Amino acid sequence: MKSRIEEVKARALASVAAADGTQALSDVRVRFLGKNGEMTALMKLLGTVSKEERPEMGKLLNAARVEIESALAAAEKAARESELAKRLAEEEVDISLPGKMRLPGAAHPVTMIREEILNVFLGMGFSVAEGPEIETDLFNFQLLNVPKDHPARDMQDTFYLGDNLVLRTHTSPMQAHIMTTCRPPIRVVIPGRVYRPDDDASHSPIFHQIEGLAVDKKITVGDLTGCLQTFAEKLFSEDTKIRLRPSYFPFTEPSVEADATCTMCHGKGCRVCKGTGWVELLGAGIVNPAVLDMCGIDSKEYSGFAFGLGLERIAMIKYGIPNIKLFYENDVRFLGQFR
Ligand code: PHE
Repeated sequence: MKSRIEEVKARALASVAAADGTQALSDVRVRFLGKNGEMTALMKLLGTVSKEERPEMGKLLNAARVEIESALAAAEKAARESELAKRLAEEEVDISLPGKMRLPGAAHPVTMIREEILNVFLGMGFSVAEGPEIETDLFNFQLLNVPKDHPARDMQDTFYLGDNLVLRTHTSPMQAHIMTTCRPPIRVVIPGRVYRPDDDASHSPIFHQIEGLAVDKKITVGDLTGCLQTFAEKLFSEDTKIRLRPSYFPFTEPSVEADATCTMCHGKGCRVCKGTGWVELLGAGIVNPAVLDMCGIDSKEYSGFAFGLGLERIAMIKYGIPNIKLFYENDVRFLGQFR
C-alpha cells in the first residue's frame, strides 16, 4: 500500500509539473483527485488494509493528497496568470483609433414639416383631424361633386380596391366627413397619407397632404387669401408673397392654384423655381355650394374655403430637394441634414 501511495503521488506531481496551461491542469486534477481519480481509488482500498496499518496508511494518503493539492493549486495560479498576461499582450487596445459614435435619432423631414405646418394653422385657430386612408367612392368622389363617370375622375388616377373602395387620392374626402358630421363654424386641418399611381422625380405613389377647411357665415376669397398669405410668411419668411392663379377642382368654385415667391432666391429666379421666381404651393378655392348642400350645410347661409397641399412638395421647396424619392430611401446622409 505504502509503495502504491508513493508511486501515485510521484506520478501526480510529475503530471502537474508537465501540464501546460489551465486546461491540462484541470485534466490532471480530474485524473488524480476527481471522483473516479486514482487517489480516490486508493482511499477506497484503505478498507482492505489491516487494522494496525490503517492509521499510518491513512496519514500517508492524506499527506500525499495535500501535497498534490497544493502543487496543483500553485501550478493553476501560475498558469492563469501567464495566460492572462499573454491575452493582455495580444489583445492590446489601439487607443488612437476613433471611437464608435452613436448619433441621436431625429424626426423624418416629412414629419418635421408636417408639425411645422400644423403649428402655423393651430396658431390661426384651426384644429387637427385625421381620417381613413381607405375611402368609399362616395367620400373620395361623389360628395366632392365628382359623380360616377364624370370626366373629372380622370384628373386623378386611382388605386381601386373594389367597385366602391379606393385608396384615397387626396385628403379632401375628410372635408365631406367633417361637413356631414360637424356644424359651422368649422376650422380644421387634416394631415394624412394619400395614394396615386404616379411615379417620377416629383411624384410618388404614396405621399402626404394637409387639407384645410373653413366654413362659416360670409367666408370669402379674401379670407382664403389672407390665410394663405399668413401661412406662407410663417412657414417660409416674412417677405414671402403669394399669388393666386385660376384653376379647376370640382369641389371648389372658384378654384385657384396658389404660388409663393421662391424661398431660395426670394423671387429673383433660380434652379428651384426654374427661373420664374415663383413656386407652386397648393390647390384651393371656395367650397362649391353644391358640396355644402350635399353634406347638409345650407349654402345660402354658409360659405367656406378649402385648400390642399402636398407635404413633400412643400419640403422640396423649403429645402431645395430635387427628387421626391429621397424622402423614402431613408439614407442617413440625407435624413441627418434636417436634424
Ligand atoms: N384635393 C386637391 C388635390 O389633391 C387639392 C385641393 C384641396 C384643391 C382643397 C382645392 C381644395 O389636388
